[in-house]
Amino acid sequence: MLIVGNQKTYLNKEEVLDFIEKTSSVDCSKVVICPSYIYIDLYKETSRYIVGAQNVSEKGNGATTGEISASQLASLGVDYSIVGHSERRDEQKEISENIYNKIVRLLENDIKPLFCIGEHLEEKKSGSTKDVIGKQILEVFDRLDSNMITNIVIAYEPIWAIGTGLTPTNDEIIETVQYIKDLIKDKYEIEIMVLYGGSVSRKNIDLLNEISIIDGYLIGGASIKPDEFLYIISTNE
Ligand code: 13P
Repeated sequence: MLIVGNQKTYLNKEEVLDFIEKTSSVDCSKVVICPSYIYIDLYKETSRYIVGAQNVSEKGNGATTGEISASQLASLGVDYSIVGHSERRDEQKEISENIYNKIVRLLENDIKPLFCIGEHLEEKKSGSTKDVIGKQILEVFDRLDSNMITNIVIAYEPIWAIGTGLTPTNDEIIETVQYIKDLIKDKYEIEIMVLYGGSVSRKNIDLLNEISIIDGYLIGGASIKPDEFLYIISTNE
């Protein structure tokens, strides 16, 4: 199981230091923390977490003010990076073309992309979840070689479940994750890891852990609360 904490921009520096101290007892070998860029060095130097980024530039090193390149992330020892998070698709208007470019930059630098996909509530209600996420996957994967696809981890995050306390039923998660795995197996003959994300918490983790088909979790709000995060990790040891 791979547990990934996406700490978004929730924490200031003192809060990051407090989080690191309060979670220092945890076995970090399968836990990835994706902090804001500005705290990556802090996590690398003062914690044992595997460290990921929340985003990456589409371009290489050069004249791109305000961006952070994959090569820069690699030079800090970053092992993973989220790409295509719905908050960036919706707010920064990122589309598959941008996500494809980012994935290529990451793989060139031996960083594993955590590729987020998911449907809006209206899309779920109209029964088009599989169409939406199938399109999100194929628009990117059709342009990649199989040796690149193998290194990608998918995070299925229904957008309506993010930060709302709502989650799909276990049966719904199983059906969607099975669809994702089958699609990639049939089309590219590759087995890929699929994480679930969206309101994962202390309250629902035992129920979610009953789903054997998922390979881990992408956790937002609960990844900044030391006790809750430690509890979720402890249920997956
Ligand atoms: P929450 O766990 O807060 O719903 O956020 C999920 C998420 O967006 C992780 O990337």
